[in-house]
Amino acid sequence: MAEISIRKLNKSFGETQILDQIDLTVRDGEFMTLVGPSGCGKSTLLRIIAGLESQTNGQVNISGQPVDQLRPKDRNLSMVFQSYALYPHLTVKENIATPIRMRSYCWYQRLPLLARVLPGAAERQSGIDSKVAAVAELLQIEHLLDRRPGELSGGQRQRVALGRAMVRDPAAFLMDEPLSNLDAKLRIHMRTEIAQLHKQLGTTFIYVTHDQAEAMTMSDRIALMMDGELLQVATPEEIYRNPVDVRVAEFIGSPKINLLPGEVNSAGRVTVCGQPLRVATQPRQTQIRVGVRPENATVCRAEQGDIQGQLIYLENMGAEFFAHITIDTLTEPMLVRCDVEQGQQLSLGATVGIRIKPKHTLIFNQSGRRVASEKIAAEVHHESVAV
Ligand SMILES: Nc1ncnc2c1ncn2[C@@H]1O[C@H](COP(=O)(O)OP(=O)(O)OP(=O)(O)O)[C@@H](O)[C@H]1O
Ligand SMILES: [Mg+2]
Repeated sequence: MAEISIRKLNKSFGETQILDQIDLTVRDGEFMTLVGPSGCGKSTLLRIIAGLESQTNGQVNISGQPVDQLRPKDRNLSMVFQSYALYPHLTVKENIATPIRMRSYCWYQRLPLLARVLPGAAERQSGIDSKVAAVAELLQIEHLLDRRPGELSGGQRQRVALGRAMVRDPAAFLMDEPLSNLDAKLRIHMRTEIAQLHKQLGTTFIYVTHDQAEAMTMSDRIALMMDGELLQVATPEEIYRNPVDVRVAEFIGSPKINLLPGEVNSAGRVTVCGQPLRVATQPRQTQIRVGVRPENATVCRAEQGDIQGQLIYLENMGAEFFAHITIDTLTEPMLVRCDVEQGQQLSLGATVGIRIKPKHTLIFNQSGRRVASEKIAAEVHHESVAV
């Protein structure tokens, strides 16, 4: 068990800065996901924590102790990679046992023939066997122990890689996109398994992915990175509902949040395409962006909408529909979620209204930072519409 804290950490490769003043505390037993687009520095940060890469400056502490001078093997962390990195010529059992042999035995105890005749060999072997058996039972791979990696499916190989990481009882697991080689269905299944495994073990997990759905479903907290910078660290719910930056709002959520160009009048009322919304913010801001998630707007009759547009496409997802609506002056259509009953009644090409739920509307200023906003009471809305 371990708390991992990163203080004022920078990393440059040559002239290029890859990580910029990273400050992050991963609590003991927490499932923390580092998420962000490709190339933002997630693997570099994980490799620095593991000791596989050195930082330019800043500090990594494990359980309150600086580890910057410790070699990877002395940090007591287990890493699981995207590539699994199993030994093809060894059985599953031998693959899982390898870290115990490497860690606990001196060089001559690791020699295959000599090891068997050295004093204490039987006890050592039975210790290994029982550890491997316990891990195999937890991962439900007991029936695969005598196979070689070439005889396993992708998901089974992934489980063996997890087993090999677990057998050492590390202080924390570091996982770098461990599911990205699996097909979509298996990925969804394995993310539940890894989340359950975390609950069972209660160990600190740092999990790297560029997949926002993995981050949302598995994590206690998410650290969202972009261009080497940590933009927000928060629970999945908080990061979804209260993004601090427009880049966070865009990255998290599928389908993506709608971002509409807007203005604020002198009374603080937000307008989109010249139409007033039931939302107020700090007055006299120019060029705001109004963020509306597809579930925070509804399709209605044109005259009842806050704004109007033309329905150009209906995406039928089975349990729900997404209406794609073009609005005069906007380049991107707006996506609005509808229930199945409403979706079936809508007709393509029709002019429809979009009613925006003021409570969940997010306002971002010119530099992309979130600014406070509030719902305008209904009676105020009616007065202003009448004016
Ligand atoms: N050894 C290196 N030398 C020079 N540049 C590097 C090196 N390793 C990584 N980089 C660069 O650092 C940046 C961050 O790389 P990193 O692998 O950490 O990204 P990532 O967030 O893990 O991306 P992905 O999601 O694609 O795995 C990239 O621009 C990459 O090209
Ligand atoms: Mg990476």
